[in-house]
Amino acid sequence: MSDGPTLVAEAGGSSTLPLVPPPSEIDLPEDWHTFGGATYHLSRRVGEGGMGVVYEARSPAVSEPVALKLIRGTPDDIALARFAREAELPQRFNGHPHVVRVLDVGRFDNGHRYIAFEYLGGGSLAAHAAEFRAPAAAAALLTQVATAVGDLHEKGVRHRDLKPDNLLFRTLPPDPAGVVVTDFGQAWGGQQVNRPTGDGQPLGTPTYAAPELLRDAAAADQRADIYSLGAILFRLLTGVVPTEVTWPNSLTDDYKTARAAEPPPPSRRFPPDVPAHLVSACRGCLHPHPDGRFPTAREFLRALTQHS
Ligand SMILES: Nc1ncnc2c1ncn2[C@@H]1O[C@H](COP(=O)(O)OP(=O)(O)O)[C@@H](O)[C@H]1O
Ligand SMILES: [Mg+2]
Repeated sequence: MSDGPTLVAEAGGSSTLPLVPPPSEIDLPEDWHTFGGATYHLSRRVGEGGMGVVYEARSPAVSEPVALKLIRGTPDDIALARFAREAELPQRFNGHPHVVRVLDVGRFDNGHRYIAFEYLGGGSLAAHAAEFRAPAAAAALLTQVATAVGDLHEKGVRHRDLKPDNLLFRTLPPDPAGVVVTDFGQAWGGQQVNRPTGDGQPLGTPTYAAPELLRDAAAADQRADIYSLGAILFRLLTGVVPTEVTWPNSLTDDYKTARAAEPPPPSRRFPPDVPAHLVSACRGCLHPHPDGRFPTAREFLRALTQHS
């Protein structure tokens, strides 16, 4: 832990502590709650995903409210490695205006691991997408996201799950501080800890994920994130996603094959008030083959801001 207090030291080595009971089965109290040495007051559950459960919480040792993330269920080694990476990767960027800050990482005495992120109280881009439909607003927002993504890439990190749900605001938009990239649960930071594809654990959220990520996540490079940037921009500008898909169709070979052959959305799908340079910036991300996309987030940024 490089920033902020670590409330409970790893006691007795990582393999000796039992990881029971799972957080989802704990009857979490309303009041200040101490798990051994670490004291957090869990005020409410703010999110729950495939892997984690997130509470708004406070600690006397941390000067601001936090989003306390715990792993659901009984994690296997891969889930534990992902959880560790979920803290470690954004920690490399602590202080970046558009990457979530990690305030505390630790393990309660009962064995549960936690990550305390800065609390982002403004909601997600998914909830606020309609407010960014104007081309200038959409472009300004994507400029922030692409700047952060370019910085991630320059340090060898690929996010691999960029989507409106994972872009949060510190305060309600219009927020002068802008948008924050969160949820590094699928990210790649130099070490592959994901299950091999093909066992029902494809990476990415199909709608926003590059076709190659659905096939073989390990082989996908940073240009998969470029695709997601384009899909997010398309969603903001048009109000719809490039391709609708329903689970579990997204897991079928037919779907993956169709996605891998799907050309960028034609210009006529964009509203007439969207300037040509934004249409081509967006389409330039959404090529099904990585070679057809902007090679870097920086080049996408140039296209976003280029007025012709
Ligand atoms: N730093 C944060 N501040 C406020 N809410 C958060 C924060 N991080 C996550 N959340 C909430 O918890 C939900 C799930 O968190 P996330 O990290 O995306 O986990 P998952 O891997 O389950 O998608 C988010 O969609 C959001 O509603
Ligand atoms: Mg998420």
